[in-house]
Amino acid sequence: MKITFCCADTEPEPWLAGLRAALPQAEVAVWQPGATPADYAVVWQPPQQFFDEQPQLKGIFNIGAGVDALLSLRLPPQAVVVRLEDAGMAVQMAEYVCQAVIRHFRDLEAYAADVRAGHWTYYKPRQRSDFAVGVMGLGVLGARVAQALAHFEFPVNGWSRTPKLLDGVRGFNGAAQLDAFLASSRVLVNLLPLTPDTTNILNRERLSRLQPGGYVINVARGAHLVDEDLLALLDSGHLAGATLDVFRAEPLPPAHPFWRHLNITITPHTSARTLRETSIAQIASKLMGLQRGERVAGLVDVGRGY
Ligand code: NAP
Ligand code: GLV
Repeated sequence: MKITFCCADTEPEPWLAGLRAALPQAEVAVWQPGATPADYAVVWQPPQQFFDEQPQLKGIFNIGAGVDALLSLRLPPQAVVVRLEDAGMAVQMAEYVCQAVIRHFRDLEAYAADVRAGHWTYYKPRQRSDFAVGVMGLGVLGARVAQALAHFEFPVNGWSRTPKLLDGVRGFNGAAQLDAFLASSRVLVNLLPLTPDTTNILNRERLSRLQPGGYVINVARGAHLVDEDLLALLDSGHLAGATLDVFRAEPLPPAHPFWRHLNITITPHTSARTLRETSIAQIASKLMGLQRGERVAGLVDVGRGY
């Protein structure tokens, strides 16, 4: 069995060593133009040329949770697409989102600025009951985030395509319930996959429906958010701030206003990182399942886009 590795921005050697150790029966090599045909591919943002030269692939393993970049390419139609499910990302995402919600809820940014200036000040505590958090996307990551927020006793709303029952989470689903979900939420956390249905979903019309003093946390994909609509709603005072981990162009271009906006906190697409060892173990286990003819978890529905 041959595995070809084609991952942008990823040091290949530790991945090759890990894949060889986990799958000793496999020949694992970095893809180069003109490479011999392989059975399986391990990829992150590969070029179209990769699939054009490897039309025989049986399975494509994406070393991330989101498959939007992959599905924008022409893939071999017979190949199954398998994404990472959790693989250590859910707890990271829960940490990141909880810290962003709590930092805003507890005025920690303002306290830090006051302390730096030598001021001993107090802000009036906010009411937790006024701070409903809405989580868009209740999949592997969104469900974990929603439940972590519920542990901090925030009122939590969740929105998904199909109905979901999660302890401590008020569920909304489908386009028909989106407005009610937004109107019930003050903080909005985006954990949707990027698909034709969800591109630009965080636009002026939708963000205006959040409760006054709303706060936006985008940890999914930059193209979910209409940047200028967020800026306009911050300027109007309807929104109080945002924490953004993902951007339409990454790295965020130096002239982009998000860099300098006082009420926007940015991080460089780091809220939930791919953890190599856990990911290799998951890929190896699923690949062996496919080899045995089993139906493995985490298969992407290419038509649906996630
Ligand atoms: P997932 O398990 O596939 O969950 C997707 C969720 O979104 C599901 O609940 C799904 O509803 C819902 N959804 C999809 N389309 C919808 C629509 N049109 N309307 C309403 N709900 C819809 O994905 P995941 O593993 O949680 O990952 C989510 C995303 O996080 C990834 O796609 C990726 O873009 C992003 N991500 C970012 C980072 C980072 O570092 N910033 C790291 C990892 C992942 P159903 O449950 O009804 O299907
Ligand atoms: C990272 O953004 C991922 O999709 O895993």
